[in-house]
Amino acid sequence: MQKKLRPFAIIPGAALTSVLLTACHDDHIQSALHSAGPVAQEIAWLWWIMFGILSAVFLGTMFLLALALMLPRCGKKGGVPGGDTRFIVIAGIIVPIVILIALLLASLRSTIRLRTPEEAAVTIKVRGFQWWWHVEYPELGITTANELHVPTGAPVHLVVESADVVHSLWVPNLTSKMDLVPGKTNRFWLQADRAGVWRGQCAEYCGLQHALMALMVVALEPEEFNAWVRHHQTPPAEPQTELALRGRDVFFGAAAGCTACHAIGGTSAQARLAPDLTFLASRLTLGAATIDNEPDLLARWIADSHQFKPGNLMPRTQIDDDELAALVEYLMTLKSPAHD
Ligand code: CUA
Repeated sequence: MQKKLRPFAIIPGAALTSVLLTACHDDHIQSALHSAGPVAQEIAWLWWIMFGILSAVFLGTMFLLALALMLPRCGKKGGVPGGDTRFIVIAGIIVPIVILIALLLASLRSTIRLRTPEEAAVTIKVRGFQWWWHVEYPELGITTANELHVPTGAPVHLVVESADVVHSLWVPNLTSKMDLVPGKTNRFWLQADRAGVWRGQCAEYCGLQHALMALMVVALEPEEFNAWVRHHQTPPAEPQTELALRGRDVFFGAAAGCTACHAIGGTSAQARLAPDLTFLASRLTLGAATIDNEPDLLARWIADSHQFKPGNLMPRTQIDDDELAALVEYLMTLKSPAHD
Protein backbone atom coordinates (compact mmCIF):
# COMPACT_ATOMS: atom_id res chain seq x y z
CA MET A 1 0.00 0.00 0.00
CA GLN A 2 1.30 3.42 -0.92
CA LYS A 3 2.19 5.60 2.03
CA LYS A 4 0.91 9.16 2.03
CA LEU A 5 3.72 11.73 2.28
CA ARG A 6 2.99 14.30 4.92
CA PRO A 7 3.94 17.95 4.28
CA PHE A 8 6.02 18.27 7.44
CA ALA A 9 8.16 15.37 6.19
CA ILE A 10 8.61 16.92 2.73
CA ILE A 11 9.62 20.46 3.78
CA PRO A 12 12.77 19.59 5.81
CA GLY A 13 13.72 17.04 3.13
CA ALA A 14 13.41 19.63 0.36
CA ALA A 15 15.36 22.19 2.39
CA LEU A 16 18.16 19.71 3.10
CA THR A 17 18.31 18.64 -0.57
CA SER A 18 18.65 22.23 -1.78
CA VAL A 19 21.40 22.96 0.76
CA LEU A 20 23.27 19.81 -0.29
CA LEU A 21 22.81 20.57 -4.00
CA THR A 22 24.21 24.07 -3.48
CA ALA A 23 27.17 22.72 -1.53
CA CYS A 24 27.90 19.99 -4.10
CA HIS A 25 28.40 22.29 -7.05
CA ASP A 26 32.18 22.39 -7.15
CA ASP A 27 33.01 25.37 -9.36
CA HIS A 28 31.00 27.91 -7.29
CA ILE A 29 30.91 30.45 -10.13
CA GLN A 30 27.43 31.51 -9.08
CA SER A 31 27.33 31.36 -5.31
CA ALA A 32 26.66 34.09 -2.77
CA LEU A 33 28.47 31.99 -0.17
CA HIS A 34 31.75 31.95 -2.14
CA SER A 35 32.45 35.65 -2.23
CA ALA A 36 35.30 36.96 -4.37
CA GLY A 37 35.19 40.58 -3.24
CA PRO A 38 34.17 42.90 -0.39
CA VAL A 39 30.55 43.49 -1.48
CA ALA A 40 29.61 39.82 -1.67
CA GLN A 41 31.71 39.14 1.43
CA GLU A 42 29.68 41.63 3.45
CA ILE A 43 26.42 40.09 2.22
CA ALA A 44 27.67 36.58 2.99
CA TRP A 45 28.63 37.76 6.50
CA LEU A 46 25.12 39.12 7.06
CA TRP A 47 23.61 35.94 5.64
CA TRP A 48 25.57 33.74 8.06
CA ILE A 49 24.63 35.96 11.03
CA MET A 50 20.94 35.72 10.11
CA PHE A 51 21.23 31.99 9.39
CA GLY A 52 22.88 31.38 12.79
CA ILE A 53 20.47 33.47 14.87
CA LEU A 54 17.33 32.33 13.08
CA SER A 55 18.40 28.67 13.20
CA ALA A 56 18.85 29.03 16.98
CA VAL A 57 15.39 30.62 17.25
CA PHE A 58 13.86 27.82 15.15
CA LEU A 59 15.55 25.05 17.14
CA GLY A 60 14.68 26.74 20.45
CA THR A 61 11.03 27.09 19.44
CA MET A 62 10.83 23.47 18.27
CA PHE A 63 12.44 22.32 21.53
CA LEU A 64 9.87 24.21 23.61
CA LEU A 65 7.07 22.91 21.42
CA ALA A 66 8.26 19.32 21.89
CA LEU A 67 8.57 19.94 25.61
CA ALA A 68 5.04 21.32 25.80
CA LEU A 69 3.66 18.33 23.91
CA MET A 70 5.53 15.73 25.95
CA LEU A 71 5.35 17.03 29.48
CA PRO A 72 2.21 16.40 31.48
CA ARG A 73 0.08 19.49 31.91
CA CYS A 74 1.29 21.51 34.84
CA GLY A 75 0.54 24.82 36.49
CA LYS A 76 -2.59 26.09 38.11
CA LYS A 77 -5.97 26.16 36.45
CA GLY A 78 -5.90 28.58 33.51
CA GLY A 79 -2.25 29.42 34.20
CA VAL A 80 0.90 28.83 32.21
CA PRO A 81 3.76 26.40 32.92
CA GLY A 82 5.73 27.72 35.85
CA GLY A 83 2.68 29.38 37.25
CA ASP A 84 3.67 32.99 36.35
CA THR A 85 4.05 35.21 33.31
CA ARG A 86 7.82 35.76 33.68
CA PHE A 87 8.63 33.15 31.04
CA ILE A 88 6.31 34.78 28.49
CA VAL A 89 7.69 38.24 29.16
CA ILE A 90 11.30 37.09 28.81
CA ALA A 91 11.04 34.53 26.00
CA GLY A 92 8.09 36.07 24.20
CA ILE A 93 8.88 39.79 24.39
CA ILE A 94 12.39 40.63 25.62
CA VAL A 95 14.34 37.95 23.71
CA PRO A 96 12.61 38.69 20.35
CA ILE A 97 13.24 42.45 20.83
CA VAL A 98 16.93 41.82 21.55
CA ILE A 99 17.21 39.50 18.52
CA LEU A 100 15.44 41.96 16.20
CA ILE A 101 17.66 44.83 17.38
CA ALA A 102 20.77 42.69 16.84
CA LEU A 103 19.62 41.85 13.30
CA LEU A 104 18.79 45.51 12.63
CA LEU A 105 22.26 46.60 13.77
CA ALA A 106 23.91 43.91 11.63
CA SER A 107 21.87 45.05 8.57
CA LEU A 108 22.74 48.71 9.23
CA ARG A 109 26.44 47.83 9.42
CA SER A 110 26.20 46.09 6.04
CA THR A 111 24.20 48.93 4.50
CA ILE A 112 26.88 51.43 5.55
CA ARG A 113 29.74 49.24 4.34
CA LEU A 114 28.04 48.65 0.98
CA ARG A 115 27.84 52.35 0.12
CA THR A 116 29.35 52.99 -3.29
CA PRO A 117 32.92 54.35 -2.94
CA GLU A 118 33.64 57.72 -4.62
CA GLU A 119 36.57 56.49 -6.68
CA ALA A 120 36.39 53.65 -9.18
CA ALA A 121 38.86 51.99 -11.53
CA VAL A 122 36.23 51.98 -14.28
CA THR A 123 32.54 52.71 -14.80
CA ILE A 124 30.37 50.24 -16.69
CA LYS A 125 26.90 51.03 -18.01
CA VAL A 126 24.60 48.04 -18.25
CA ARG A 127 21.25 48.24 -20.04
CA GLY A 128 18.85 45.35 -19.63
CA PHE A 129 16.77 44.05 -22.54
CA GLN A 130 14.47 41.03 -22.76
CA TRP A 131 16.65 38.88 -22.36
CA TRP A 132 20.23 40.10 -22.63
CA TRP A 133 22.59 42.82 -21.37
CA HIS A 134 24.01 45.76 -23.33
CA VAL A 135 27.37 46.69 -21.81
CA GLU A 136 29.26 49.96 -22.29
CA TYR A 137 32.49 51.44 -20.91
CA PRO A 138 31.79 55.17 -21.52
CA GLU A 139 35.25 56.38 -20.43
CA LEU A 140 37.00 53.79 -22.59
CA GLY A 141 34.81 53.85 -25.71
CA ILE A 142 34.08 50.10 -25.57
CA THR A 143 30.70 48.50 -26.25
CA THR A 144 29.96 44.83 -25.78
CA ALA A 145 27.20 42.53 -24.54
CA ASN A 146 26.48 39.86 -21.97
CA GLU A 147 30.00 39.99 -20.54
CA LEU A 148 31.73 42.33 -18.08
CA HIS A 149 35.50 42.54 -17.92
CA VAL A 150 36.73 44.20 -14.73
CA PRO A 151 40.13 44.83 -13.17
CA THR A 152 40.88 43.15 -9.84
CA GLY A 153 41.57 44.94 -6.57
CA ALA A 154 39.60 48.15 -7.17
CA PRO A 155 35.96 49.25 -7.06
CA VAL A 156 34.02 49.19 -10.34
CA HIS A 157 30.98 51.45 -10.67
CA LEU A 158 27.92 49.92 -12.28
CA VAL A 159 25.28 52.25 -13.77
CA VAL A 160 22.18 50.28 -14.73
CA GLU A 161 19.08 51.00 -16.80
CA SER A 162 16.37 49.03 -18.54
CA ALA A 163 15.09 49.24 -22.11
CA ASP A 164 11.80 47.45 -21.44
CA VAL A 165 10.70 45.82 -18.17
CA VAL A 166 12.22 45.57 -14.69
CA HIS A 167 15.31 43.36 -14.56
CA SER A 168 17.79 42.86 -11.74
CA LEU A 169 21.54 42.45 -12.09
CA TRP A 170 23.06 39.99 -9.64
CA VAL A 171 26.50 38.41 -9.69
CA PRO A 172 26.30 36.44 -6.44
CA ASN A 173 30.08 36.02 -5.96
CA LEU A 174 30.70 39.74 -6.48
CA THR A 175 27.68 42.02 -6.06
CA SER A 176 24.47 42.78 -4.29
CA LYS A 177 21.32 42.81 -6.44
CA MET A 178 20.28 45.97 -8.21
CA ASP A 179 17.04 46.52 -10.12
CA LEU A 180 17.15 47.83 -13.69
CA VAL A 181 14.04 49.99 -13.89
CA PRO A 182 12.70 51.57 -17.10
CA GLY A 183 13.16 55.37 -17.02
CA LYS A 184 15.42 55.30 -13.97
CA THR A 185 19.20 55.07 -13.53
CA ASN A 186 20.47 53.03 -10.59
CA ARG A 187 24.05 52.79 -9.37
CA PHE A 188 25.95 50.20 -7.39
CA TRP A 189 29.40 48.66 -7.41
CA LEU A 190 31.47 45.55 -7.33
CA GLN A 191 35.04 44.64 -6.59
CA ALA A 192 36.81 41.41 -7.48
CA ASP A 193 39.71 40.61 -5.19
CA ARG A 194 41.09 37.88 -7.42
CA ALA A 195 41.13 37.04 -11.11
CA GLY A 196 38.45 34.62 -12.25
CA VAL A 197 35.22 34.08 -14.15
CA TRP A 198 31.80 34.26 -12.51
CA ARG A 199 28.23 33.96 -13.70
CA GLY A 200 25.60 36.58 -13.05
CA GLN A 201 21.87 36.18 -13.41
CA CYS A 202 18.83 38.39 -13.88
CA ALA A 203 17.15 38.23 -10.48
CA GLU A 204 13.77 39.79 -11.27
CA TYR A 205 11.19 37.84 -13.25
CA CYS A 206 11.09 39.56 -16.63
CA GLY A 207 9.23 37.23 -18.94
CA LEU A 208 9.56 33.89 -20.70
CA GLN A 209 13.37 33.71 -20.82
CA HIS A 210 14.15 35.33 -17.46
CA ALA A 211 16.08 32.19 -16.43
CA LEU A 212 18.28 32.46 -19.55
CA MET A 213 19.15 36.10 -18.99
CA ALA A 214 22.61 35.58 -17.58
CA LEU A 215 25.99 37.19 -18.05
CA MET A 216 29.63 36.35 -17.43
CA VAL A 217 32.01 38.48 -15.39
CA VAL A 218 35.72 38.13 -16.12
CA ALA A 219 38.05 39.69 -13.54
CA LEU A 220 41.57 40.34 -14.81
CA GLU A 221 44.75 41.51 -13.09
CA PRO A 222 45.16 45.27 -13.79
CA GLU A 223 47.86 44.80 -16.52
CA GLU A 224 45.75 42.16 -18.25
CA PHE A 225 42.70 44.38 -17.98
CA ASN A 226 44.64 47.26 -19.59
CA ALA A 227 45.64 44.91 -22.43
CA TRP A 228 41.98 43.86 -22.81
CA VAL A 229 41.01 47.56 -23.03
CA ARG A 230 43.67 48.26 -25.70
CA HIS A 231 42.58 45.27 -27.76
CA HIS A 232 38.92 46.25 -27.56
CA GLN A 233 39.48 49.87 -28.50
CA THR A 234 40.53 48.89 -32.02
CA PRO A 235 37.94 47.21 -34.24
CA PRO A 236 38.68 43.60 -35.25
CA ALA A 237 40.95 43.05 -38.26
CA GLU A 238 39.39 42.73 -41.74
CA PRO A 239 38.46 39.16 -42.71
CA GLN A 240 41.18 37.44 -44.77
CA THR A 241 39.73 34.27 -46.27
CA GLU A 242 37.39 34.15 -49.22
CA LEU A 243 34.76 32.36 -47.16
CA ALA A 244 34.88 35.01 -44.43
CA LEU A 245 34.63 37.80 -47.02
CA ARG A 246 31.56 36.08 -48.46
CA GLY A 247 30.20 35.81 -44.95
CA ARG A 248 30.64 39.53 -44.49
CA ASP A 249 28.54 40.11 -47.62
CA VAL A 250 25.88 37.82 -46.16
CA PHE A 251 25.94 39.79 -42.88
CA PHE A 252 25.46 43.12 -44.65
CA GLY A 253 23.02 41.69 -47.23
CA ALA A 254 19.27 42.18 -47.09
CA ALA A 255 18.42 38.45 -47.02
CA ALA A 256 20.00 37.79 -43.62
CA GLY A 257 18.91 41.19 -42.26
CA CYS A 258 21.55 41.13 -39.46
CA THR A 259 22.28 44.87 -39.65
CA ALA A 260 18.68 45.80 -38.81
CA CYS A 261 19.37 44.91 -35.18
CA HIS A 262 23.09 44.27 -34.57
CA ALA A 263 26.18 46.50 -34.48
CA ILE A 264 29.81 45.72 -35.30
CA GLY A 265 32.35 48.40 -34.35
CA GLY A 266 34.29 49.89 -37.27
CA THR A 267 31.57 48.98 -39.80
CA SER A 268 28.33 50.55 -41.01
CA ALA A 269 26.32 48.15 -38.82
CA GLN A 270 25.31 50.29 -35.85
CA ALA A 271 21.84 49.15 -34.77
CA ARG A 272 21.25 48.80 -31.06
CA LEU A 273 18.21 46.54 -30.86
CA ALA A 274 20.22 43.38 -30.26
CA PRO A 275 23.60 42.47 -28.72
CA ASP A 276 26.69 44.25 -30.08
CA LEU A 277 28.77 41.76 -32.07
CA THR A 278 32.09 43.65 -32.32
CA PHE A 279 34.19 40.99 -30.57
CA LEU A 280 31.66 38.18 -30.67
CA ALA A 281 34.27 35.46 -31.26
CA SER A 282 36.15 36.43 -28.09
CA ARG A 283 33.13 35.90 -25.84
CA LEU A 284 32.67 32.91 -23.58
CA THR A 285 29.01 32.31 -24.36
CA LEU A 286 26.21 33.08 -26.83
CA GLY A 287 22.64 34.23 -26.20
CA ALA A 288 23.36 35.79 -22.74
CA ALA A 289 25.15 32.72 -21.35
CA THR A 290 22.62 30.33 -22.89
CA ILE A 291 25.08 28.22 -24.94
CA ASP A 292 28.86 27.93 -25.34
CA ASN A 293 30.47 30.08 -27.99
CA GLU A 294 31.35 27.46 -30.62
CA PRO A 295 31.02 27.75 -34.42
CA ASP A 296 28.51 24.89 -34.83
CA LEU A 297 26.35 26.17 -31.97
CA LEU A 298 26.55 29.68 -33.44
CA ALA A 299 25.34 28.32 -36.80
CA ARG A 300 22.41 26.58 -35.10
CA TRP A 301 21.65 29.73 -33.11
CA ILE A 302 21.56 31.89 -36.27
CA ALA A 303 19.43 29.35 -38.14
CA ASP A 304 16.90 29.12 -35.32
CA SER A 305 17.76 30.62 -31.95
CA HIS A 306 14.37 29.58 -30.60
CA GLN A 307 15.51 25.98 -30.28
CA PHE A 308 17.76 27.24 -27.44
CA LYS A 309 15.80 30.25 -26.20
CA PRO A 310 12.14 30.15 -27.24
CA GLY A 311 10.45 33.52 -27.50
CA ASN A 312 13.57 35.65 -27.95
CA LEU A 313 13.27 38.50 -30.45
CA MET A 314 15.74 37.20 -33.06
CA PRO A 315 13.77 35.86 -36.03
CA ARG A 316 14.72 32.64 -37.82
CA THR A 317 17.23 33.52 -40.54
CA GLN A 318 16.23 32.86 -44.13
CA ILE A 319 19.60 31.95 -45.68
CA ASP A 320 20.86 28.69 -47.20
CA ASP A 321 23.47 26.40 -45.64
CA ASP A 322 26.39 27.80 -47.70
CA GLU A 323 25.55 31.36 -46.73
CA LEU A 324 25.19 30.28 -43.10
CA ALA A 325 28.62 28.61 -43.12
CA ALA A 326 30.18 31.75 -44.64
CA LEU A 327 28.39 34.00 -42.13
CA VAL A 328 29.68 31.94 -39.19
CA GLU A 329 33.20 32.04 -40.69
CA TYR A 330 32.96 35.86 -40.81
CA LEU A 331 31.56 36.19 -37.29
CA MET A 332 34.38 33.99 -35.99
CA THR A 333 36.89 36.56 -37.28
CA LEU A 334 35.39 39.12 -34.88
CA LYS A 335 37.92 38.57 -32.13
CA SER A 336 40.44 40.58 -30.18
CA PRO A 337 44.16 40.15 -31.04
CA ALA A 338 44.64 38.35 -27.69
CA HIS A 339 42.66 35.43 -29.13
CA ASP A 340 44.82 34.99 -32.27
CU1 CUA B 1 15.64 40.05 -16.95
CU2 CUA B 1 14.70 38.51 -15.42
